Amino acid sequence: MRSFLLLSLVFSIPVLNAQDRSLRWEEEAPGIWKAVVGEPEKVTPLSIAGIQPKLSALSSLGNPAFPENLRQSTGEIFDAKAILRFPLERGEQLFGLGLNFKSVQQRGTIKELQVDHYGETDNGRSHAPVAFYVSDRGYGVLINAARRIKVYVGIAVRKDSKDPPPEMNRNTQPDWNPQPYSDAVEIVVQAPGTDIYLFAGKNALEVVQRYNLFCGGGVLPPKWGLGFTQRTPTLYSDRQVMEEADRFEQKGYPLSFIGLEPGWQSYSYPNSFVWDKGRFPDPGKLVKQLLDKNIRINLWINPYVSSHSPLYSDILPYTGSHTVWAGVVPDITLPVVQDLYKGLFYKQHLDIGVSGYKIDETDGYDVWLWPDGARFPSGLSGEQMRQIYGLQFQKMTDKWFREKNQRTYGLTRASNSGASSLPYVIYNDYYNHRDFITALCNSSFIGVLWTPEARSSKSAEEWLRRMQTVCFSPMAMLNAWADGTQPWTFPEVAKEVKEVMLLRMQLLPYLYNAFAQYHFEGKPPVRAMNLEEGFFYETKLQKGDLNSTENPYEMAVQQDVKDQYMLGDYILVAPLFAGETRRSVILPKGNWYDFYSGKLVGNGNVIEINPGLSKIPLFVKEGGIIPMIPPLLHTPEKNDVLPLTVRYYGSVENSISLYDDDGDTFDYEKGDYARAVLSVKKNRRGELRGFAELPKTKSFHYNKVNWVFMTNGE
Ligand code: GAL
Repeated sequence: MRSFLLLSLVFSIPVLNAQDRSLRWEEEAPGIWKAVVGEPEKVTPLSIAGIQPKLSALSSLGNPAFPENLRQSTGEIFDAKAILRFPLERGEQLFGLGLNFKSVQQRGTIKELQVDHYGETDNGRSHAPVAFYVSDRGYGVLINAARRIKVYVGIAVRKDSKDPPPEMNRNTQPDWNPQPYSDAVEIVVQAPGTDIYLFAGKNALEVVQRYNLFCGGGVLPPKWGLGFTQRTPTLYSDRQVMEEADRFEQKGYPLSFIGLEPGWQSYSYPNSFVWDKGRFPDPGKLVKQLLDKNIRINLWINPYVSSHSPLYSDILPYTGSHTVWAGVVPDITLPVVQDLYKGLFYKQHLDIGVSGYKIDETDGYDVWLWPDGARFPSGLSGEQMRQIYGLQFQKMTDKWFREKNQRTYGLTRASNSGASSLPYVIYNDYYNHRDFITALCNSSFIGVLWTPEARSSKSAEEWLRRMQTVCFSPMAMLNAWADGTQPWTFPEVAKEVKEVMLLRMQLLPYLYNAFAQYHFEGKPPVRAMNLEEGFFYETKLQKGDLNSTENPYEMAVQQDVKDQYMLGDYILVAPLFAGETRRSVILPKGNWYDFYSGKLVGNGNVIEINPGLSKIPLFVKEGGIIPMIPPLLHTPEKNDVLPLTVRYYGSVENSISLYDDDGDTFDYEKGDYARAVLSVKKNRRGELRGFAELPKTKSFHYNKVNWVFMTNGE
């Protein structure tokens, strides 16, 4: 009897072949396909982000073919989880999978994607654990589930692999490898099912563009959001805040918005969300005085509600089973909770002119956040809530500002898939300068923005180096909440710090244009080199044939390039870090020019530079047209009209479209914007001349153009 039972058990084991497990892809939009495995849960990052795909922009990007290799992808439900597998080719490089800080290339790693404060290893616990990877072969895969997602990135070898690693004898074969070659990405989703999206593209950049456009297009910040911001010490009073603003003015350092840290509240943390009457007796007056100076106010908060908050008793029935710092945790997915927050936040903040928020502590750490088993009134578990809390807070606050037809631009420590169009920049407490730049590169693959904020420094050199990179990032921020550092704190470099801050202000039209490209075309404003055209490995040489003397460029581009990046279409940023006087820079194919001198510096090669402390090394791509404004202390106001200085680098004819709008409202979404054409053409004698077709509408805020030909010194 026993043996019969055993036998029948053996025979009833379902043996699934790859065919049974293969994914059924349906076209979702041009170049985007969707497959479903099992029964996906209702709440997902994309549902929380409420994405609204930009269909016409996706159509204009073209209609690429389905990436054939991906037909072999499989998925099944096993062990109450979704198990997915996607094929890989030899030599294929993969990017993305969360906001990583140590490396750009992810093949050969394992990630357990979960929202968390970065804990110094790229293990998947991340401020933005976006389950999206991009391949250099021109496709990307997104797993849309508000669950922990484990990704074996080119790890794990199946018995039925098409391209298995050879079996080797460790006793005799010295190149025996403990991590054998794997021809797939294998993914485990802790859910009864999941949606999967596949994005195609002619290169990695186009894949990222499709992802961003699918998520609604990248955010277009208000112009003031691209100016400089200082976060003042946590217990500053209204008087001290005004004095700080005045000091910036008197000393000639630019300032567009000030961030108030926890001490603006009567109780924190957990939070009351109302002003402290002692430090801020008349917050409306303070906000108005600052707005009169063209300076905005941003407020720090975290979501956890104190018993001292007017929200407390109304929100209590809609909070989770656990507390954070003894504050209650509202179930932010419930409309009633969103309305309660809105009621108080409107009255206390938005109605008096506050321009945005810094949403802290929605990421982790485990030691103070709720556990996985926490329960929320909507039925969501702690695990699910953790994946979407920061995203939902961004979405909720974005909606409030949209209702006022006023753009916001703030900070968040937690995000996830689908966030491209949300007006938030990620920051954290991990203060490693070099890794901050790697995060800048990585943000570009996953539809999020990151700021390498400056706080303080051990030396004047470090201070200047940090401030230089901050000025070439999505948010130029000094976070002095703890120690009151000011841009001029290190007198030895105060002049150079001012110069780079003013350079950022001058580059505003260029930066704003880069963000317009993010919005309308899905191109991230900051890009890893692997998204740059001309930056690829174009050789038949095998890895072993490469060396730094004979083929240094081919060798360099296949490495993990994480300390240089593109800002917009034309500027390559190659920062230096404290203690360094020289570095190498990889210049993709095509001519590259020094930003400051206009001199030709290279083309498809690796250069060594020794640039001195005063400037951040910047290079401009052939044909670079860089529109700039005069150095201002505040970002221009709605009706300001300014002259442009347009720098041109190189020797070929070129043109760009320069975007502009009111810089403040959402009217651009209704078509209220303008574009100028700036072009450089050769005359009959072969000399370059600049031409500007400036639209004469009130959406365009530049009235004349002074061309500066950097390369020929004209
Ligand atoms: C931290 C945050 C800092 C600062 C501080 C204030 O969590 O990362 O930037 O805001 O809180 O207490």
